[in-house]
Amino acid sequence: MAYKVVKKNVLNPQIFLMEVEAPLVAKKAEPGQFIILRIDEYGERVPFTIADFDREKGTVTIIVQIVGKTTKDLAQVEEGEEILDFAGPLGTPTPLEGLKKVAVIGGGLGTAIAYPQAKKLHNLGADVTVITGFRNKDLVILEDELKKVSNKLIVATDDGSNGNQGFVTDMLKKEIEAGEKFDEVIAIGPLVMMKFVCKLTEQYNIPTTVSMNPVMIDGTGMCGGCRVIVGGETKFACVDGPDFDGHKIDWDTAMKRGRMFKDYEEKSCKEGHC
Ligand code: FES
Repeated sequence: MAYKVVKKNVLNPQIFLMEVEAPLVAKKAEPGQFIILRIDEYGERVPFTIADFDREKGTVTIIVQIVGKTTKDLAQVEEGEEILDFAGPLGTPTPLEGLKKVAVIGGGLGTAIAYPQAKKLHNLGADVTVITGFRNKDLVILEDELKKVSNKLIVATDDGSNGNQGFVTDMLKKEIEAGEKFDEVIAIGPLVMMKFVCKLTEQYNIPTTVSMNPVMIDGTGMCGGCRVIVGGETKFACVDGPDFDGHKIDWDTAMKRGRMFKDYEEKSCKEGHC
């Protein structure tokens, strides 16, 4: 069975959205879960978090940043064409029920993963503040979509090119110091961003959930590739996560593991494989 791409949109020069016909995945998908796809029989298996789903249309949306060979190849797949494998939904859904006031933080591409969380919280009646951060205004994504599912949207840029300079941590701190009382912070983005959000929320005793995105191979808890240390225990992001209590993550180990294959990737790209 192959999976048809029904829509493709370029969001910025490095990021595109792909809506894929996958009714069985759409039927069960929840925010926080992911899929593993393989473009063709020679392709590598790559995980992508589910950015949106439509149970009636039977489609699942992923948002992809072009960073290496597979994502470059995927960028060549056009509307009407097919992907060989699209397995999921995998992972444990984010528990969002019962939350009343939440800050959802998205850093760069993490914003794409933050979107379904904000949408579900909004549909559950929670008061949602969304804070997103990008390097500059040309990289901002999903601003209109996030406006619709939040009570307050703050978009920050590192260089201030959208008129609001700062990091997501600066914006969150301002909100907390202005008296906003969040039951929970959900932070999704680069490891370093999530680490510093957690350091901040620890000072204010705000429970914080992060979405870990380590290297994954099988996505079913068998290879051990996606292990993360949480509260001193080894967990597998693909089955125990990808969401975890951010205050319990061993960030140094996670960052070390995140850099493990960088040299191989660079070598492979230099050899013309991406
Ligand atoms: Fe293999 Fe998680 S990807 S155990």
